[in-house]
Amino acid sequence: MINEGIVNVSYIIATILFILALGGLSNQETARRGNWYGIVGMAIALLATVFGEVTAQYDKLIVALLVGGTVGLILARRVQMTQMPELVAILHSLVGLAAVAVGFANFMDPARLAHYAGVELTIHDIETYIGVLIGAVTFSGSVIAFGKLSGRISGNPLILPARHWLNLLLLLGSIYYGYEFVVQSVEGGGLMPLIIMTVLALLFGMHMVMAIGGADMPVVVSMLNSYSGWAASATGFMLGNDLLIVTGALVGSSGAILSYIMCRAMNRRFLAVIAGGFGTGGGGAAGGGEQQGEVAPVDAAETAALLSNAKEVMIIPGYGMAVAQAQHTVFEITRTLREKGVNVRFGIHPVAGRMPGHMNVLLAEAKVPYDIVFEMDEVNEDFPDVDVSVVIGANDIVNPSALTDPDSPIAGMPVLECWKGKVSIVLKRSMATGYAGVQNPLFFLDNTRMLFGDAKATLDEVLKAL
Ligand code: TAP
Repeated sequence: MINEGIVNVSYIIATILFILALGGLSNQETARRGNWYGIVGMAIALLATVFGEVTAQYDKLIVALLVGGTVGLILARRVQMTQMPELVAILHSLVGLAAVAVGFANFMDPARLAHYAGVELTIHDIETYIGVLIGAVTFSGSVIAFGKLSGRISGNPLILPARHWLNLLLLLGSIYYGYEFVVQSVEGGGLMPLIIMTVLALLFGMHMVMAIGGADMPVVVSMLNSYSGWAASATGFMLGNDLLIVTGALVGSSGAILSYIMCRAMNRRFLAVIAGGFGTGGGGAAGGGEQQGEVAPVDAAETAALLSNAKEVMIIPGYGMAVAQAQHTVFEITRTLREKGVNVRFGIHPVAGRMPGHMNVLLAEAKVPYDIVFEMDEVNEDFPDVDVSVVIGANDIVNPSALTDPDSPIAGMPVLECWKGKVSIVLKRSMATGYAGVQNPLFFLDNTRMLFGDAKATLDEVLKAL
């Protein structure tokens, strides 16, 4: 058992390390270091909590740590890179569930009424109530998000009649039962209002995420990330643990900033996304999954010739590159072309793939130099000078109908405008649609060539031909 002073100093050191971790993760060159700050900070936080705050019952703690640690290890080893957003969503749900469990345990603790009285009791009860509320919304919302991201639940938004009134009713109900809870708690009661609110909050979380369409899921994932932070922070208040309060606030606010960045990248208003109904997933006037004319296929040898003769090449990776695990071949092709004097750059859309930074992580893994990887805004003006754009397993992020069709589920989302270049080569396996479920007019343009097949297999052939 270490003394309180050491615990507090450890908590301050852990907090500083978490802040340094966030700072480090904001840049590719420093991301690895940022990760280490986070790992060391978390290790210090765990040790200080285990040896400083848990006074007895180490046996139960060790069993819980072993079970949790083993499940986490197995999950992390098994999960494919493409399933990462689902894993993140389901992990958020656990943070929410923990906040609900801590809230109920706190409330039912027989020592509660002995510890707190008067105003202090009311404040403590409000903390518990808000903690359970945020936790329950996070839990059910994340479970639905997991279902949508893994394809177990349809990506179509569920639009109930009078859904805004329903939300308002759930909100008013939560406020009313909050009042009942605080009043009854002073007299030793309050369990019933707490249970009713938990059910209302669970329904609210489910309804909120069910109403959001597939195309807006990036915002939902980052929003639930933020909620899970606030749920952890609320747990910190309930337990009187400063580190949990600060860490939760860091996660909550960085998740909120990420949601804002995602909204800006997709040209959405945050409230419009939360209100739901966007991103119908089934396709609007953009033609759903229907073909819109003839396409011009090419083979690997022709692709290699086009690339060798180009001066400016732009590579646009998307979700399919992650599925095919083609990043290493992409790197080899890039190196070969650069040796031939071709200027190769990468254009990265902010919502390419299935999670923020997805493409950057893959390219970094394949050791593609950072200085040729650009964000969409940095290269979108340059396409008229690009000889060949190589679209690798990307679809929605290069869909011109986002700019031209106001009825499209992705209407208004900025996209990489590769069709303004001389030739675009699109690598995919079929004419299937992407995440938003809409056909892409790019594939039918005169200056587009389709290279059909698994991206890894076709790129291996291109590399051989080069
Ligand atoms: P998508 O629009 O989903 O298109 C991916 C394309 O890759 C598909 O058309 C698919 O066509 C092709 N593909 C799949 N496996 C392949 C393989 N092995 N080899 C070659 N091609 C393959 O992806 P995107 O352009 O990256 O856009 C991202 C979408 O996901 C956006 O709608 C975005 O809103 C959404 N989203 C993003 C996030 C974040 S945060 N990034 C989170 C959730 C959702 P075939 O089946 O014909 O091969």
